[in-house]
Formats: sequence, C-alpha cells, structure tokens
Amino acid sequence: MVKTAKMQDKPLRKLIAGNWKMNGLRSNVNEVKRLATLIGKAPANADIAVCPPSTILFQMAQAAKGSLIRLGGQDCHVSKAGAHTGDISADMLKNAGARYVIIGHSERRTDHGETNALVAQKMEAAHEAGLVAIMCLGETLSERKSGKALSVIGAQLRGSVAKTANAKNTVLAYEPVWAIGTGLVPTNAEIIAAHRHLRKNLVRLMGNDGLKTRILYGGSVKPSNADEILNLANVDGALVGGASLKASDFIQIIRSLG
Ligand code: PGA
Repeated sequence: MVKTAKMQDKPLRKLIAGNWKMNGLRSNVNEVKRLATLIGKAPANADIAVCPPSTILFQMAQAAKGSLIRLGGQDCHVSKAGAHTGDISADMLKNAGARYVIIGHSERRTDHGETNALVAQKMEAAHEAGLVAIMCLGETLSERKSGKALSVIGAQLRGSVAKTANAKNTVLAYEPVWAIGTGLVPTNAEIIAAHRHLRKNLVRLMGNDGLKTRILYGGSVKPSNADEILNLANVDGALVGGASLKASDFIQIIRSLG
C-alpha cells in the first residue's frame, strides 16, 4: 500500500457520511434504525452521518435520536427564506434535524450549473445556519487524462471556500467525477496526491485550521475497498453514495475503521 507522511501531527477523527442522493421513501426511514442498532452504543471511532432526501430528513432524524448517527441535507439555497420555488434553506435543514449539508456535489455542479462562486455562498449560508458544510470537488475524466486534475481541484477549492470556513464547520470531499457511481476508483497514489494538494491549499487558505479540516474521499467507496482508502495519508473519511443505502453495506465501511 502506498503511503506518504501525514502533514498533520495526529490523524483527524474520521467522518463517514452517506449520500442517499434522490433515493429513499418513507418506507426506507427505518434503514437508519437498522444502522443505529448495528453501530450500537459503543463510542464510535468516527463521526457517522446520513444525508437523505429532504422529504424524509425529519423522520430520519427522529428515528436516529439517541444514536451516534447525525443527519445531513444534500444542498441548500444561499438565502434563509423567500421566493425560491423548489429550493430549501440551510435553516430549514437545521430545523428538520440536520447537522451537516453537502454542497457543490458534482451532480449539482453539472445538473444545475452550480459555479464555485455559488458554492461559496451556499457554504456561508450553511455556516450561518450552524451547519457543517461538506463541500465536494473533483475533476472529470478528460481533465484527469490531460494531466490537469490537481490544478482543477485546487482552483475549485480556492473558488468554493467561504471566508467563514474553519476546521469545525467545514469538511471537504474529493470526488473524482469519473469515479462516482461507476465502480472506478483512482489509484492509491492518485488519491494521496489529490488529498496532499488539497491539504496544502487548505493551509494556504485557512492557516492552521487547514491542517485540521477533514478531507473525505468519495467515488465508488465499497465495503471491499474502504479499508485501503481510509488508511491513506490525508484521507479523513469517506462520502459514500450507493453503498450507504443499505445499513448492511454501510456498516461494513464503518467497521473497516477497526
Ligand atoms: P458513489 O457516490 O459512492 O455511489 O460513487 C458517491 C457520491 O457521489 O457522493
């Protein structure tokens, strides 16, 4: 396994977050109860979050009460409230029981034309509401093939991080677009290089907090590869899509932390 020295003094507490995307009906709410039972009462050696569609967020938050699982939204508007049909604000997510919100996911950057500047505004809105923003970035396959992956994610980072960001209210998720939902995963060396580059840029942007800000890896994380990925330098957790939908899969990823 390829490893390089960590830039941090000690490893950061990991975060394993599930991104349910546009999946999940009321009949799936109990999946979070199943997960809570599997995790048990023992202090987890990581923070655990599930980000369901907002239609079942409140119910899931109720179902997860008393467990170690925290809830998250998948996007938020830049405003607190107002005439924005179909949108949801960070305050609303918080009110429904969220601790986290994913912002700038590549599916939103692609499907909804979200720019770095908009993502930065969303991050600020999340912070104002008291949510932890999980900000996603990652290169496309053509950017990777043309050798631009690091410069692309560096630019995304610099453009998408709000001035309000600190190590407590912000998490990054490096998600190569070509690895999302495809079963393809970068090599260990590619993940290490990307996370090292993000860490360097975080320190430039945030000073000491840049060392303490968690950087998750996301893109086809499964029970079979979680252990290896989660042990790489500067990988402080995972953002998991497909494999987070079933408690029986997600628990294996959580347990791979040992
Ligand atoms: P995946 O999705 O694990 O299904 O590849 C990850 C994500 O998009 O957050």
